[in-house]
Formats: sequence, C-alpha cells, structure tokens
Amino acid sequence: MEANDLAGIKALIEELGIVCPISGSRNWTDVRQFNLMFSTKVGSVSEEADTIYLRPETAQGIFVNYLNVQKTGRMKIPFGIAQIGKAFRNEIVARQFIFRMREFEQMEMQFFVRPGEELKWFEYWKETRLKWHLALGIPSENYRYHDHEKLAHYANAATDIEFNFPFGFKELEGIHSRTDFDLKRHQEFSGKKLQYFDSELNESYVPYVIETSIGLDRTFLAVFSYAYTEENLADGSQRVVMKLPRILAPFKAAVLPLVKKDGMPEKAREIMDMLKQDFRVQYDEKDAIGKRYRRQDAIGTPYCITVDTQTLEDNTVTVRERDSMEQIRISIDELTSYMHKNIKPLSL
Ligand code: GAP
Repeated sequence: MEANDLAGIKALIEELGIVCPISGSRNWTDVRQFNLMFSTKVGSVSEEADTIYLRPETAQGIFVNYLNVQKTGRMKIPFGIAQIGKAFRNEIVARQFIFRMREFEQMEMQFFVRPGEELKWFEYWKETRLKWHLALGIPSENYRYHDHEKLAHYANAATDIEFNFPFGFKELEGIHSRTDFDLKRHQEFSGKKLQYFDSELNESYVPYVIETSIGLDRTFLAVFSYAYTEENLADGSQRVVMKLPRILAPFKAAVLPLVKKDGMPEKAREIMDMLKQDFRVQYDEKDAIGKRYRRQDAIGTPYCITVDTQTLEDNTVTVRERDSMEQIRISIDELTSYMHKNIKPLSL
C-alpha cells in the first residue's frame, strides 16, 4: 500500500483467495485509485483554465491564515482558531441518511501549541470535547472514544468520539495531534515563513497543532436519532415525541388557549408577548388541546402552557412537560423564572 503498488495488491488478493463478503464472488476488477477530491476549472477562457479542487476539510484555510490571526489578534501560544464551513468529498458510498455526504458542513478548530507540549493538549481537548457533547444533555452511554492505533502520516495521536447511531457506534468527531506537518508543508511550497516568535522562550518555531473536527450534519443526525421516540401510552394511543435536550429545542414553549373564546386567546397572547422577550415561543389555538399537545411533542417543545377558565379567575396556567406529560399549575408571574430554571444554557 505504501509503495502504491496496485498490481501487487491485486496479485495478493488473488493469491490469498479473498472473496467478496457479500456476494462470495472472486471476480475482482483491477485495484484502482479513487478520486477523493472534487475538481473543477477556474478561469474565463477554457483552454487557459486551471484545475482547482474543492476543499475536503476546512482546516487548511486556518493553517494558511494563522499568522494573520495571531498578529492582528495579538494572540500568544497556546491559542485556537475555529470556523464552520462546507467541505466536499467524493465519497464512494454516500448514505445512511446524512451520515456520509459528498457536500457537508464541518466545524473545525486548530489549536496552536509549543512543540513538545502537543500530547498534553491532545489529552486536554479529548476530555473537553467529550464534556461538550455531554453538556448537550444526551446520556454518556451513547458516546465512546476510539483511539487510533494506525495513525495518518501527519499525526502523532488521534482519537474519535463515536456516537451510538441507530446503525451502531460511528465517528462523530475526530481529535488529532497533527504535529507541525501542515504548517511545514505550507511553508515549503509557498516559500513563506510560518514561524511564531515565542517571547517567553525567546525563540522562533513552527507550532504544533491539535485539531478538533466535527460534522455539523452528523451532530444533527446524532441529536435527532437520540431524540426521536415513538411511545405507546397508557390509554392505548400512540405519540411521536422528539426528546430534544431542552436547550436545543427550536421552540421552548407553546401557549395554548383551551378554547377560542371567553377572553382566553387574548390572555394567551399576553403570555406569549411576555415570554417571547426571553424565549422562542409558539401560539396555537387550532384543534382540540390533545392534538395540539401531540403537535408540540413531535417538534420537541419542552413546555405547553394552557390558558383555561381558572386562568381568568386567578392568573394561573397549567404547564405540561413534554417527556413526563405531567402538568403543574403555576402563576403567570412565575412563568419566566420557571422556564429559565429548567432550560439551562450549556456549561462544561
Ligand atoms: N480535518 C480533519 C478531518 O477532516 P475527518 O475525520 O475526515 O477529519 C471530521 O472528518 C468530521 O467531519 C467527522 O468526524 C465527521 O463528523 C465529519 N465528516 C467527514 N466526512 C463526512 C461526510 N462525508 N459526510 C458528513 N460528515 C462527514
């Protein structure tokens, strides 16, 4: 493989009598190199157009720009640069919903460190990134590390954070200690120095880099496949409920007048106006209350706030929690603080 001896690999497959695990066939084609990157042309005159490649990772822009960011931001090592952007790969098998796509969104960070300190920072980011995933509110048994034994040519340590997707544990995020490989290669081919002057050590060096790299679409799939639940209820009915971590739910509450009369819609609108200062809230007055609860369950709204006859008498509402379906009665004056208490921002 390392010598790129494709004919040799073909000979080995035949010699060892390797069969296709699915069809049982030995009718192999020659071993061929696949194009992993998408190419296109840039230039207005077609004969003079240059071939360019769509980026297969967002990382390289950060490498090329790191000294600009360091100088303009007056950053000292260690520091990181993170960005979100499109990446393109000519995947041979693009499938499993949005797990593997040819055009996807990556969220990457390059963290620049002193040479020799990279493995300490690698451990730091390995731990910190798992904490971030857990802070989303999905239980820890859905995650595991997969440390790489066979490392890419540019890495001296690598691990994946794997998630328990419906089709098994698969990579969600990669954390790599990429040494100084990328910066050195950019330096070599551009002829531009990419050294950092470390004023504490009074020396210049090419920093080492720890990378954290996560797919946005894959994270979306992880959260949705965890949250999507079909439940059989005690009364024999069924419901679909999106058990999204509350902080990720697109709407935090729905305000529902029990009936479309007797001043209930007006009161519900008042509550809606109060809550929308702090939260994204939906108003819904169509159909029976049970049907409206189901609609909110299906889009993962953590709380349904119902205005009924008693509301008009004592200024209280019922608050129904999505997962337990339990209802409590609380005063409208306490609603905002109740929601803040129960919808906490992520903290590591
Ligand atoms: N810069 C390092 C890098 O790109 P990677 O392990 O090849 O590392 C990082 O990709 C992350 O990007 C993966 O963990 C995954 O979440 C996401 N990813 C990679 N290929 C993907 C694809 N074809 N479709 C969707 N997400 C993908």
